[in-house]
Amino acid sequence: MKKIIVLSLLATLAFACGPSSSDKGGSEPSAAAPKVDGEKVYKTYCVTCHGLYGDMGASGAFNLQTSALPVEERISVIANGRKAMTPFKDLLNEEKIKAVAEYTMTLKK
Ligand code: HEC
Repeated sequence: MKKIIVLSLLATLAFACGPSSSDKGGSEPSAAAPKVDGEKVYKTYCVTCHGLYGDMGASGAFNLQTSALPVEERISVIANGRKAMTPFKDLLNEEKIKAVAEYTMTLKK
């Protein structure tokens, strides 16, 4: 039991010292194409409400085919949630949230 606590503490520390702590480290590829497959993230976490094509609308989910929300605001909706939509910031890292937000832009008709 003690071992588990120590391990999770170490994991937390390692995470805290991760790439997100260096604001202007210059090592983060900001403009580069995301390494994460946004489509995969979407199919794992988002289809239950938004559907494969973004237009399912379960639990009042917005239609992502007609959404005019800019990608920066999508990132914040995905990270922090809104009404019936659950926040994803504890589930997905920044990179994944960005990738999936960009993927939702491609669903637009
Ligand atoms: C539990 C169901 C649910 C899940 C899962 C879910 N959403 Fe949503 N989503 C919603 C609801 C409901 C809204 C509308 C919120 C409101 O009424 O303000 C919404 C709104 C949005 C919006 C804002 C659209 C707009 O035009 O304002 C975006 C973008 C979005 N979701 C993307 C995603 C992504 C990407 C995922 C997967 C990481 C996801 N959602 C997972 C239910 C969900």
